Amino acid sequence: MNIEFTSQSVLIAGAARGIGRGITEAFAARGAQVFAGDRLGDEMAGLPAHKTELDLLNKAALRGWIETSEKTAGRSPDVLVYVAGGVLGQSAKPLEEVDEEAWRAILDVNLTGAFLSAQAVTPGMKRRGKGRIVFIASGAGLRTSLTGIQAYASAKAGEIGLARQLGQELGPFGITVNAVAPGFQRTSPDYERQWQSYSPERQESLIANTARRRPGTPQDIAHAVMFLASDYADFITGQVLSVTGSP
Ligand SMILES: NC(=O)c1ccc[n+]([C@@H]2O[C@H](COP(=O)([O-])OP(=O)(O)OC[C@H]3O[C@@H](n4cnc5c(N)ncnc54)[C@H](O)[C@@H]3O)[C@@H](O)[C@H]2O)c1
Repeated sequence: MNIEFTSQSVLIAGAARGIGRGITEAFAARGAQVFAGDRLGDEMAGLPAHKTELDLLNKAALRGWIETSEKTAGRSPDVLVYVAGGVLGQSAKPLEEVDEEAWRAILDVNLTGAFLSAQAVTPGMKRRGKGRIVFIASGAGLRTSLTGIQAYASAKAGEIGLARQLGQELGPFGITVNAVAPGFQRTSPDYERQWQSYSPERQESLIANTARRRPGTPQDIAHAVMFLASDYADFITGQVLSVTGSP
């Protein structure tokens, strides 16, 4: 199976850090014209992509980014990968102490951003009668979250539900919508902080309890995303694929 994206326009929403960066590099290496968007403009340096600094929750900026990609590529996006999310520097607190603003901020970037981005690329994909949308969810949306953050587990479960529902709605238009659920990876400052908070024994047991006996990498996630974005996955929609090295 040889997966290629030559002459396709691929949007990566949330491209600056570990997983988004790995996905951007993987699509670019397979011939795609990649449009990388993130609010961390400086951290996108060196990415093999057209780079745009934007807040994905700002609808006007989001539409402007997509229009720019359409002018540059001469076509509407073939693939959208929504990666933005994470825990925004928050730590676990007892439920009674969680303030609503902190709750909403995590829901906004992990769930509402996925909704807005999918909404924005859908008209172009419908016109062409083909499109691929992949959300980066988390094992936290299928089980409980190692972070202990209520909003994160809820938002990631919501993102998986959104993929399922949009898969149903957009299937007749040739558009598939799926989610990939990574396990823990030391990809960004938030996750590094979480890793450092574990004892050496806990760190060791995380790897020892992984069936494949190694940590996951952004490339592992990129490979799953590219399969779902390829023609080989035309009959797969509304699904969530765990990429955790374990059953
Ligand atoms: N690293 C892990 O252990 C892990 C595990 C499971 C799922 N995930 C998910 O994978 C995705 C990527 O995570 P990561 O580990 O690469 O690091 P991360 O969570 O720090 O990456 C999120 C990226 O999204 C960008 N972003 C956030 N809000 C934005 C906004 N409003 N506008 C534009 N860009 C914005 C950030 O700048 C960052 O580059 C996230 O959705 C995260 O929840 C990560």
